[in-house]
Amino acid sequence: MKVAVIGSSGQLGHDLMRILPAAGLEAIGFPGRLELDIANAAAVEAMLDRHRPDAVINTAAFHHVDLCESRPDDAWKINAVAVRDAAQACQKRQILWLQIGTDYVAEGWPGCRPIAETAAMCPKSIYATSRFAGDCLTLAHAPQYGYVVRTCGLFGIAGCKLKGGLNFVDTMIAAAKAGRPLRVVNDQIVAPTATDTLSRQLAALLEHQPGPGLYHAVSHGQCSWHEFAQTALNMAGLTATVEPVSSTAFAAAAIRPRYSVLDNARLRAVGLDLMEDWQTSLKRYIACKYNLPD
Ligand SMILES: NC(=O)c1ccc[n+]([C@@H]2O[C@H](COP(=O)([O-])OP(=O)(O)OC[C@H]3O[C@@H](n4cnc5c(N)ncnc54)[C@H](OP(=O)(O)O)[C@@H]3O)[C@@H](O)[C@H]2O)c1
Repeated sequence: MKVAVIGSSGQLGHDLMRILPAAGLEAIGFPGRLELDIANAAAVEAMLDRHRPDAVINTAAFHHVDLCESRPDDAWKINAVAVRDAAQACQKRQILWLQIGTDYVAEGWPGCRPIAETAAMCPKSIYATSRFAGDCLTLAHAPQYGYVVRTCGLFGIAGCKLKGGLNFVDTMIAAAKAGRPLRVVNDQIVAPTATDTLSRQLAALLEHQPGPGLYHAVSHGQCSWHEFAQTALNMAGLTATVEPVSSTAFAAAAIRPRYSVLDNARLRAVGLDLMEDWQTSLKRYIACKYNLPD
């Protein structure tokens, strides 16, 4: 099976490009918008016709959450309209379209159960609304070939390209090593997810093709960003203490969900939930990236 990876130079794309081949799939990478802009529908169609992939994984998005508030046209163009056009183009050519989605479309409350695919979503920002539209448009325009795989709090070796090659874990470790004070919110609950585990999960979805539609794929367990940060520092052998603060301490442009832990209910139902506890993934990540004993 030949898989085109859009955004292959990103954090998730990087791991997909090494893990798909290890799973016996051929991967063709399109590093970023300079090579293939997802918002250019004609270029996406030309890529499909030239390379004739069996599947496309779209890791690209306009995912600067706060910037989306001041650039709504770009958010809708990249996260919704481009996704609709690409999903439709794939459906027409009988190519699988795997759209990576986000937990930010969901909203529960502290103490509630993880949120399954069948639950009502509650996007609260322009970013989240545009991403939710991309999810819905994939399902509507690629009913036989569209998969939406929502994930959360990614960390991987390449780091997030949007954040200059750093992810939350790297940022916390760098700040602690520099002796900077660390203040992290303790009222947003998430399921941080490793891009290597997610890549293996995506490879398994392609291999087994359990049916199109919506899937949640996040680590098992949950934590606040504060707990995530403190655990990462402890695992890295750093003694710094992270101060827990409320979201109101930061004047962010976009509203974040207070609780966006997703439930991998559909993966479980089809016997394909390969995700692991967030602590297990985090320990492996820190050991690998920072050369520590696992
Ligand atoms: N990071 C997280 O914590 C998190 C959480 C939940 C969901 N997700 C979702 O997971 C996916 C992957 O995230 P990531 O952390 O791997 O992001 P990333 O490191 O920023 O990678 C995004 C990739 O997409 C490319 N890209 C951006 N705009 C593009 C465009 N218009 N056309 C084509 N390529 C474009 C980027 O390259 P260029 O910049 O060179 O164009 C980059 O290669 C995204 O959909 C993201 O929203 C991420």
